[in-house]
Amino acid sequence: MLSDQDLRDQLAHVLRKTDFQFIGSKYEGKVRDCYDRGSERVLITTDRLSCFDVVVTCVPFKGQVLNELAMYWFKLTSDLVPNHVVDVPDPNVMVVKNCEILPVEVVLRGYLAGSAWRDYQAGKTVSGVRLPDGLKAYDKLPEVIITPSTKAPKGSHDLPISEAELLAAGLVKQSLWQQVREVALALFARGQEQAEQQGLILVDTKYEFGQLDGKLVLADEIHTLDSSRYWVKASYGERLQDGQAPEMLDKEPMRQWLLDRGYKGDGPVLEFSAEHLVGIARHYIDSFERISGRPLEAKVGAVSDRIETKLMAYFDGRK
Ligand SMILES: Nc1ncnc2c1ncn2[C@@H]1O[C@H](COP(=O)(O)OP(=O)(O)OP(=O)(O)O)[C@@H](O)[C@H]1O
Ligand SMILES: [Mg+2]
Repeated sequence: MLSDQDLRDQLAHVLRKTDFQFIGSKYEGKVRDCYDRGSERVLITTDRLSCFDVVVTCVPFKGQVLNELAMYWFKLTSDLVPNHVVDVPDPNVMVVKNCEILPVEVVLRGYLAGSAWRDYQAGKTVSGVRLPDGLKAYDKLPEVIITPSTKAPKGSHDLPISEAELLAAGLVKQSLWQQVREVALALFARGQEQAEQQGLILVDTKYEFGQLDGKLVLADEIHTLDSSRYWVKASYGERLQDGQAPEMLDKEPMRQWLLDRGYKGDGPVLEFSAEHLVGIARHYIDSFERISGRPLEAKVGAVSDRIETKLMAYFDGRK
């Protein structure tokens, strides 16, 4: 098990960015460094933490936690839809099939939280979905809803779009969208069932789908702490009755911490103390362990050097 001292020591080794041109041309997402290799793509999950679409800091072992969570869920859902995974040559790295990503983020919600709550409170629809009156923050929705958003170019925010609008704009063909809907609902149902067995609520999530040889493929990440909200089931009812927010495993407390200090994604980024970063790392590791039901196996050390060595050996071995 990693001690607080281990987490503090790892602060010197966080994976901020990579530069491995030997594996392909690089595209930098907010959290992942992606290397294009033609039919394949190498996704390296860094330790970057993004809030309000801005990278605010780096957290020890966050990249490994995210990549391993994604793998955990890809394996648990592979009977529902083919996914893009080819190999995991390192705990932070996934080699995937390069797909043509659909230009919409497929967001599913079982509860009223985040931007959906803000829109609802303001009397708006949630991506075109009109919810019943009288709901409160964190309430369970009468049924799971799909609230897509556009995939905005780097630097701008994703925008909500209704299903009718996305079809009218021709972003996705009707027949393909029907398939996406069905698969997304099945994935979310599986996620909710499995989370419940771990004493958790899978609140909402975002999927990205791609197409490969005309077939639908689940791409990107699945049910990670960046793409999903998780709450603790045992305390949910009581806390709501007491007017408190649910106990959250995801990064919502982080967003709140920033908001409390007046940070909304613009202007200079706040400083994080070492103790605070150790606390955030602990939160990610604990969340990983609660979701997956197993301890995180991680070692203190230079992540970037380890990945470089593993990737060289991996691609050499495949020549
Ligand atoms: N199998 C795949 N084929 C092609 N692209 C993929 C695949 N899986 C994921 N991607 C893309 O790789 C990128 C992952 O990086 P990351 O999650 O850090 O990006 P992001 O910040 O969410 O999005 P952006 O691309 O807007 O920066 C995303 O652009 C995602 O759409
Ligand atoms: Mg992403």
